[in-house]
Amino acid sequence: MVETLIDRCPRVETERLVLRKWEMRDLDGLIKLNTDPRVLEFFRKRPNAEESEEALKRAIQRQDENGFCLPVVEDKETGDFLGFCGLNVPSYGELLPCEPCVEIGWQLIPEAWGRGIAVEAAKFWLGFGFDTLGLDEVVAFTVIQNHNSRRVMEKLGMSFDPAGNFDFPGVPVEHPLCRHVLYKLSKKMYLERENG
Ligand SMILES: CC(C)(COP(=O)(O)OP(=O)(O)OC[C@H]1O[C@@H](n2cnc3c(N)ncnc32)[C@H](O)[C@@H]1OP(=O)(O)O)[C@@H](O)C(=O)NCCC(=O)NCCS
Repeated sequence: MVETLIDRCPRVETERLVLRKWEMRDLDGLIKLNTDPRVLEFFRKRPNAEESEEALKRAIQRQDENGFCLPVVEDKETGDFLGFCGLNVPSYGELLPCEPCVEIGWQLIPEAWGRGIAVEAAKFWLGFGFDTLGLDEVVAFTVIQNHNSRRVMEKLGMSFDPAGNFDFPGVPVEHPLCRHVLYKLSKKMYLERENG
């Protein structure tokens, strides 16, 4: 069902971007993303080239199963790989307190930061999630101190309730990357925002 829906728009253009599914040709871009310490400041894992290839294969498999998996963001003018942004069904090994849910997430190469690219891509995927997939809610989460990511959530109109903060399963509580914030956007809030 979801696959049928997403296959109506496997490649989408926004003002400055191409949003599309993962392909094996994205491996170099993914390795660049996964080996940049600025991108990984708030991540515990540092995937090497081999692990990135495994992750790419898993992403392709998951987009076949779910219809989406944190889709690719490309520069429309140059065709350059900028990173990824979009919807995902979490599968982090251990269950998160917000599951079952659909999350929205993003990672961009630093050269692309500060130009509202994550917001531009995320806005399309939120619309797709609510209008086409018929989702009732989309969530986003990150470590408390990831200011840039939280700014994107705020710009998208997602709501934050400190009571929703959670410790990421499997991470020692004293680890600085354990405590996470949870933002939510309901379909109702999305429609209210869209309709002014
Ligand atoms: C989070 C991320 C996707 C934001 O994407 P973006 O397209 O740059 O988002 P924006 O342009 O809206 O900028 C968001 C905030 O980042 C900060 N920022 C902007 N340009 C920046 C730059 N060149 N360097 C560092 N931070 C910058 C600003 O605080 C900005 O907020 P503001 O617009 O209110 O000033 C990007 O920073 C990123 O890929 N970070 C690393 C991966 C990551 O942490 N992902 C989230 C995991 S949950």
